[in-house]
Amino acid sequence: MLDLSVSLAGVTLKNPVVVASGTFGFGREYSQFYDLGELGGVCAKGLTLHPRTGNPAPRIAETPMGILNSVGLENPGVDAFISQELPFLRQFDTKIIANISGNTPEEYGVMCEKLSAAGVDMIEVNISCPNVKAGGLAYGTRPELAAEVTEMAKKHAGSVPVMVKLSPNVTDITEIAKAVEGAGADALSLINTIRGMRIDVNTRRPILKMNTGGLSGPAVLPVAVRMVWEVSQVVDLPILGMGGVSKGEDGAQLMLAGASAVAVGTALFADPFAPLKVRDELADIAGRQGLSAVRELTGGVRPW
Ligand SMILES: Cc1cc2nc3c(=O)[nH]c(=O)nc-3n(C[C@H](O)[C@H](O)[C@H](O)COP(=O)(O)O)c2cc1C
Repeated sequence: MLDLSVSLAGVTLKNPVVVASGTFGFGREYSQFYDLGELGGVCAKGLTLHPRTGNPAPRIAETPMGILNSVGLENPGVDAFISQELPFLRQFDTKIIANISGNTPEEYGVMCEKLSAAGVDMIEVNISCPNVKAGGLAYGTRPELAAEVTEMAKKHAGSVPVMVKLSPNVTDITEIAKAVEGAGADALSLINTIRGMRIDVNTRRPILKMNTGGLSGPAVLPVAVRMVWEVSQVVDLPILGMGGVSKGEDGAQLMLAGASAVAVGTALFADPFAPLKVRDELADIAGRQGLSAVRELTGGVRPW
């Protein structure tokens, strides 16, 4: 029997496949397709201290092998999540990872305090959203600011593990990873979306109302694999790998590069069952390679 369970900062996931923040809402729609207890975990839609309506439309555009989005963290706010969405998610036998974005380090602290008191399994600190003006990406591109937000989150998260989500929109992601590790993070997740742009050549207008957006989907997988591999060599933290995963082989690449678990995001829009397929195909790959546990894939790449 192949053991599918993995550990992420002391949290045991029944299998290594979680769903990526912002692509699964709070699980209500997807729960009509399958029992969310099939998933290793759910990264909930990004939360802010106060409700946000997000950016003006159009805010999604298709690209070759991916999408550009500029949703801009539309969400009901952390208090509504705790009172209305968390009880719903709690019905399922899966780990719940709350994802937060703040305008200031203090806001991250307040949200961590609320969420740890509410009893989420893990907090994913988003310092990498390319679609908001204040905070967001600014924190994820400067090591000292990334460290400051991490310290604040850790101080207020109690015993709930803090996973910091890194941006690929940097020259050297290892610098940010090291700063965040030094500030006490329990885990890292990467990658968030890569900034991009599309233009309608007839109107000469950008397709997205915000002009630019974040690229995700299969097109970004090689970037994610490279970044997970680079980061895993310089930090001693577990990594949740994501970016373009739509099949087991994609997830296996991220695990071989150093990820302990993987998240499926954009692939959900074409196929709500994608995470379950990734899970089953990962198990097939590990089984074919004669492993007794899928976690044995982690860090197993043999670089030239
Ligand atoms: C529509 C959309 C909304 C997203 N919202 C969030 C968010 O609220 N918080 C966050 O940390 N990442 C957010 N992301 C980024 C994803 O969680 C993920 O890091 C990224 O899309 C790469 O994975 P994928 O290629 O499998 O989608 C969002 C992505 C998309 C496509």
